[in-house]
Amino acid sequence: MPISQKVASYLERGSWIRKMFEEGARLKAEFGEENVFDFSLGNPPEEPPEAFHEALRSLVENPIPGMHRYMPNAGFPEVRQSVAEEVARETGLPVEGRHVVMTVGAGGALNVALKALLDPGDEVLLIAPYFVEYRFYVDNHGGRSVVVQSGEDFLLDLEALERAVTDKTKAIILNSPNNPTGVVYPPSQIESLGELLRRAMARYGRDIYVISDEPYRRLLYDGVSYPHIFHYVENAIVATSHSKDLALAGERIGYLVANPRCADLERLMEALVFANRTLGFVNAPALMQLAVARLQGVTVDVEAYQRRRDRLYGALTGMGFRMVKPQGAFYLFPRSPIDDDVAFVQAAQRRHILVAPGTGFGTPGYFRIAYSVPMEVIERSLGAWEALAEEFGLI
Ligand SMILES: Cc1ncc(COP(=O)(O)O)c(C=O)c1O
Repeated sequence: MPISQKVASYLERGSWIRKMFEEGARLKAEFGEENVFDFSLGNPPEEPPEAFHEALRSLVENPIPGMHRYMPNAGFPEVRQSVAEEVARETGLPVEGRHVVMTVGAGGALNVALKALLDPGDEVLLIAPYFVEYRFYVDNHGGRSVVVQSGEDFLLDLEALERAVTDKTKAIILNSPNNPTGVVYPPSQIESLGELLRRAMARYGRDIYVISDEPYRRLLYDGVSYPHIFHYVENAIVATSHSKDLALAGERIGYLVANPRCADLERLMEALVFANRTLGFVNAPALMQLAVARLQGVTVDVEAYQRRRDRLYGALTGMGFRMVKPQGAFYLFPRSPIDDDVAFVQAAQRRHILVAPGTGFGTPGYFRIAYSVPMEVIERSLGAWEALAEEFGLI
């Protein structure tokens, strides 16, 4: 076999996802894009804010000498500085440019953090349902994923987390607002998590890190408050990007920022910069760094997402689908009307609705709707949803 057995087994296990995409593409080709309701991917539907285009124009018209050359692996110092200022403003903590590493999206940031932290066999706690790629990312760096199911309403199950921590635990990946549930963990839970980790660190005499994956950080609804991890956990590293908040997913621009109170901070930063370089990223894309440095604090139209959430959540619960009302991100994670969520997703496909089964996120019995689609797609899909609800006896 030309490829590694491990990758071959991953491809085999993921083959049903590929089949689903192929079926979706076939439906679009046969019936036309406008007659297929694609809720399968979390791809921002809007263009980036106008300020992004202005920043690009200004950079092209007034190029900074050397801006396209190699740079320090952590990124341009002035870009790191502007990110640090924004995080310092948000948290009230003395975050500085030296605490920031610019990365190739949040995906790149997560891989950099995991490479910097993990020794072979180290355990990383994941909370299910989880972003599918986490398991592969942990494996990339010789770690072992330990999956802990979330509790009621997809909040943290702190007791289960405490039971899952061992003398091999090195990190926990936290994702709030969450993909796929849209849940935002409340301050009381983050505080308890911090206490739990301090107890575990004292018990095992070693550092455990929270890697807080926050690409949906600015997509918050209903005025919900967002507890910044740095206030509750000393050993915290934020991994994030502008894929969602500036609708720049294809541009691959993000960053890591470490809590200024992290243990052995200088060594940690050195390791993060080393990992960014040797994973082959070298540095985050130069033009995008310079653009987003001018856009810290700018965000896409969050109310447009909230309107989509309200419309779809209201319509689907009215049809008998059961789900937690999400307070962030752009996903709904309803219960599947039958135990077999893959079979349900196939039934939805027959009605030209494309969604993803909970099985893919480590939580069977549910399915994920990405409502990052134009409102008219939501409106046009409602008849098909109703037929689906009837087929499964919900109405
Ligand atoms: C929870 C979560 N983490 C990380 C990522 C990766 O984001 P990026 O495009 O910035 O690499 C995504 C993308 O959908 C995500 O949903």
